Amino acid sequence: MAKKKQDKQLIVSLDIGTSKVAALVGEIDDQHAIRIVGIGTAPSRGLKRGVVVDIESTVKSIQQAVEEAELMAGCQVHSAITGIAGSHVRSLNSHGIVAIRDKEVVQSDVDRVIDAARAVAIPADQKVLHVLPQEYIIDNQGGIREPIGMSGVRLEAKVHLVTGAVSAAQNIVKCMGRCNLAVGEMVLEQLASSEALLSDDEKELGVCLVDIGAGTTDIAVFTQGSIQHTAVIPIAGDQVTNDIAIALRTPTQSAEKIKLEYACAMPEMADPKQSIEVPSVANRPGRRVSHKTLAEIIGPRYQELFTLIWSELRRSGFHELIPAGIVLTGGASRVQGLVDLAEIAFQMPVRVAAPEGIEGLDEVLNDPAYSTSIGLLLMGQKQLYNAPTSRVLSSANGVFTKMRDWFSGNF
Ligand SMILES: Nc1ncnc2c1ncn2[C@@H]1O[C@H](COP(=O)(O)OP(=O)(O)OP(=O)(O)O)[C@@H](O)[C@H]1O
Ligand SMILES: [Mg+2]
Repeated sequence: MAKKKQDKQLIVSLDIGTSKVAALVGEIDDQHAIRIVGIGTAPSRGLKRGVVVDIESTVKSIQQAVEEAELMAGCQVHSAITGIAGSHVRSLNSHGIVAIRDKEVVQSDVDRVIDAARAVAIPADQKVLHVLPQEYIIDNQGGIREPIGMSGVRLEAKVHLVTGAVSAAQNIVKCMGRCNLAVGEMVLEQLASSEALLSDDEKELGVCLVDIGAGTTDIAVFTQGSIQHTAVIPIAGDQVTNDIAIALRTPTQSAEKIKLEYACAMPEMADPKQSIEVPSVANRPGRRVSHKTLAEIIGPRYQELFTLIWSELRRSGFHELIPAGIVLTGGASRVQGLVDLAEIAFQMPVRVAAPEGIEGLDEVLNDPAYSTSIGLLLMGQKQLYNAPTSRVLSSANGVFTKMRDWFSGNF
């Protein structure tokens, strides 16, 4: 990960997003609690919809973000936990069965049943990213979370499999390699955000996490304490900016600026007295539009996004299984009136969440754009100390090793 003067253990996360690359350095204290001691961010120009499309610019952004974080934390970064997203990511539920060798489940039985569950046919250009156990069944007794030590003759595992395009993952490894950084682990971005934001109660009851970034909206559904469904929708903040640029006939940069300052998703909540200066293109004189007009452009785009999320939930059958509602996060969830709009659209409780319960820089902790970065750090921390496992992590542990094998096999 990284080295520091007083030999404290450091963990580094690198979120290579469509709008920004963020590097966070976390310091682990004697009680294994994590504290953020360094942060670096750089605008990202080499990604489209969550996927690297320009290696040169991505490398520059990573370098800038990492150098900034190194300077602030006073350390040198050698490797980082990073995220992966994009519409190439697919997920499916699978199932494996094995005989228990000595009438009592041991680790090797669990490993074998997980291997059996991951043995499904996937396209040649895809690789398994995560195998996330949902439940174990021993001799028809379901709902078991920790099977080791239990008696029986037949062990079954239900798992959630996440696969991603080999080339997309390789490009991330390549970009980090060009910055002399090793990939510690590569984690599906919404899994990382879930780790930072969702409570165990919510996961038990049934909840849907929606991370609205710049290029993609990432979804993760949890019920009965385990992950059940993941999906990626290629519409997010960039499309909102695009709509503003087209509707107000203004350059994309001005549209982004206007959005960041005045974004509102409910025309009813717009400030009736506020008018916004809109620069025009090609030296034409600027104009002024009302705040309500802006909300009338932004609102329908988010509405459309919510319709797509709802169709995805219906398609997967989880729309009736999430009484804890929807948890919104990601930079593009910081819009006035979004919770109200979402509650009307989904007809269930909605909250916007930012990471909390971790010490360090407040600017990062209260910003939903950093949920993935913080989640990546938390996953690293738990993996390092094998702390009381959240289910996502415990299941991801084995996968991390497999991911490493996969990369070493490819490079
Ligand atoms: N106050 C705000 N109001 C509206 N939109 C905002 C606000 N702040 C940030 N955004 C939008 O959030 C998006 C960036 O969010 P985030 O940093 O989570 O994305 P990312 O991680 O870079 O992208 P992705 O996860 O899609 O690859 C941008 O589209 C930006 O315009
Ligand atoms: Mg993101």
